[in-house]
Amino acid sequence: PLVPMTAFIEDAKKNKYAVGQFNLNNLEFTQAITEAAAEEKSPVIFGVSEGAMKYMGLDYTVAIAKVAAERAGVPIALHLDHGSSFDVVMKCIRAGFSSVMFDGSHYPYEENIRLTKKVVEAAHAVGVSVEGELGTIGGVEDDLSVDEKDAALAKPEEAIRFWEETKVDYVAIAVGTAHGMYKGEPKIHYDIIEEVAKNIGAPIVLHGGSGVPDEAIKKAISLGVGKINVNTENQVACTQTIRDILNAKPNEIDPRKYLGPAREAIKEVVRGKIRLFGSNNRV
Ligand code: G3H
Ligand code: ZN
Repeated sequence: PLVPMTAFIEDAKKNKYAVGQFNLNNLEFTQAITEAAAEEKSPVIFGVSEGAMKYMGLDYTVAIAKVAAERAGVPIALHLDHGSSFDVVMKCIRAGFSSVMFDGSHYPYEENIRLTKKVVEAAHAVGVSVEGELGTIGGVEDDLSVDEKDAALAKPEEAIRFWEETKVDYVAIAVGTAHGMYKGEPKIHYDIIEEVAKNIGAPIVLHGGSGVPDEAIKKAISLGVGKINVNTENQVACTQTIRDILNAKPNEIDPRKYLGPAREAIKEVVRGKIRLFGSNNRV
């Protein structure tokens, strides 16, 4: 069955690893992530953005996630990624999501706290975990686009009070990563991670995990990051594989002949991230 993300916290903290959130884009992504997690004996989080939900359909999404969780034999959380309103959160919970992110980072600080609190109250009442966000993460993800100049790092004292008041289960803070592919290397502000992690009772979430060097990921985990989101690298692996196959065989018409290899490519990326995050052999 699908589990809330709170199921991962204790073990991840004790053994100093992070659980990966890999975003669903279609059936092949779901299968690839599930197989990688099952083979690596790792807990995993399915991230579903509002854009992906529109594309796949809420009912299909929940149905395939449930089948995946039954097959996997490892704990899987079905998590709304960057939920933008109380309404979409409630819609997902009713449909069967085990976890939600409410991203109120675009609201003024006090308003973010007020709205996030409301989500926590409703979600916790039915055993669903909640991730909140503070600071503004740059880059592009689906309909969410933040100009580099508008990206803003989280202020540690604000992040700490945000957690104290909302009691979210996971706190996403902007620390210098960005959604999408990086133009250069991201400059991660480890001091922010450290300061916030020391003062709150929840793991920190690192968004924009694609393109972050392995050493930076390891350091972030050692300082208190307990969840890392990856989407773009999987999309690149998928699309590059399909592009190569169609370039080599312009007459190919069977979708399975390129979607199958694309699924394998995604699986290998996920497997590599799971090992990097240290969540393999934990179940
Ligand atoms: O919420 C999803 C992630 O933050 C994904 O970021 O596409 O840069 O890996 P990414
Ligand atoms: Zn994100």
